[in-house]
Amino acid sequence: MSTLLAVDGLDVTFDRHRVLADLSLHVQAGEILGIIGETGSGKTTLARAVVGLSPVRAGRITFEGTDLTALRGKARRAWRRAGQVQYVFQDPLRALDPQHTVARIVAEGLVVAGTLDRAAIDARVRAALAQVGLDQSLAARLPGQISGGQRQRVLLARAVALQPRLLLCDEPVSALDASNRNHVLRLLADLRDRSGVTVVVISHDLSSLAGIADRVAVLYGGRLVEQGPIGRVLSEPRHPYTALLTASAPSVRREHPIPARALRPAPDHRPVAAFGPDACSYASRCPFATQACVTAPSTAGSEWSVACHHADAWRSRLAVGAMSTRRTA
Ligand SMILES: Nc1ncnc2c1ncn2[C@@H]1O[C@H](COP(=O)(O)OP(=O)(O)O)[C@@H](O)[C@H]1O
Ligand SMILES: [Mg+2]
Repeated sequence: MSTLLAVDGLDVTFDRHRVLADLSLHVQAGEILGIIGETGSGKTTLARAVVGLSPVRAGRITFEGTDLTALRGKARRAWRRAGQVQYVFQDPLRALDPQHTVARIVAEGLVVAGTLDRAAIDARVRAALAQVGLDQSLAARLPGQISGGQRQRVLLARAVALQPRLLLCDEPVSALDASNRNHVLRLLADLRDRSGVTVVVISHDLSSLAGIADRVAVLYGGRLVEQGPIGRVLSEPRHPYTALLTASAPSVRREHPIPARALRPAPDHRPVAAFGPDACSYASRCPFATQACVTAPSTAGSEWSVACHHADAWRSRLAVGAMSTRRTA
C-alpha cells in the first residue's frame, strides 16, 4: 500500500493552547483508518487541519506529494475546488443549510467546481444519492423534513458527489441510534470497497470502529499515543490508555482482558512529577507514569507504533501491582 496522506510533526495552537502536539500519522491508499479519542482530544482539529481549517503552527500535511500546508492563494483555491479530500462535518443539522433542498445541497460542491454542466451535475447528484442509499424522492426535501440518519447520508452524498480520493468522516454515527449507526458504518465500508475511496472515520466510541476499520490511531490530549492494525491493537493494546479504552468497551473482543480498574490510577495516586506541556499527554492520568514521562515519548515502530516510555513493560508492573494489592487486602 502507498501513503495517500502524510501528517508529519503537526502542531496546532488556539490562543496559545497547544491542541495538537507533534502529531505524525500516515493514511494508506484504500484503507479505512479509525481515529479514536475522548472528546477534546483534538480529533476534529486534526481533520480540519487536513482541509485547511485549523491554524497549523508547525508540521507538514502532504497528499500524494503535494504539501497542503504550503498552498496559498490561487493554488489553494484550485486544490479545494477539485475536491479530492472531503471533510464530512460532525453535526449534520448545523452543516446543512435548512433552506436548501437535498438536491441543491448535494450539488453544492459540483457547482463550485464548475467543471460540469447542469445535466451532468443532476446525474451525479442522482448517483450520489443512490450510492448512500437515499431514495431519489428525497431530493426535493429540506433538511428539516428528513430523519437524522438521512441527514447524515445527505452529508455523505455531498462529499461522494465530488468523487474524492479521501473522505474524512467526523463522528458520522455518534448522533444516530444503533440500527442507523450500523447502516452508515456498513455504507462507508461499501463505498470503500466499490470505489476504492480512502476513508478516515473519527469516533469517540471504539465499538463503532471495531467492525469496519483496518487500522486505528488513538489520540489522547492532542498527541498520538498508539496506532496499528485494529485487530492487534484491540487484542494486545501496548499503551495504557488504549488498554483502558478496550477494557471499557465490553463489545470489543480481547484475548487477554485486563480489568479497567487496574488501568486507572488508585484514588490516592499522586503523579510522580509535575507534568508540563512537554510531558506525555497521558502522564497525569496514567497509573504507570514515572519521572521519565515528563518528556513525551516519541512514537517508535512503523506498522504498529506506540508512544509510551513503558510500552509493554507496564504489563509486568500491573502484575506486581496486583500482588501488592492482594497482600494489603
Ligand atoms: N476554534 C477553536 N478555538 C479555540 N479552541 C478550540 C477551537 N477548536 C477546538 N478547540 C479546542 O481544541 C481542543 C480539541 O478540540 P476538538 O478538536 O474539537 O476535539 P475532539 O474533536 O476530539 O472532541 C479542545 O480543547 C477545544 O476546546
Ligand atoms: Mg470532534
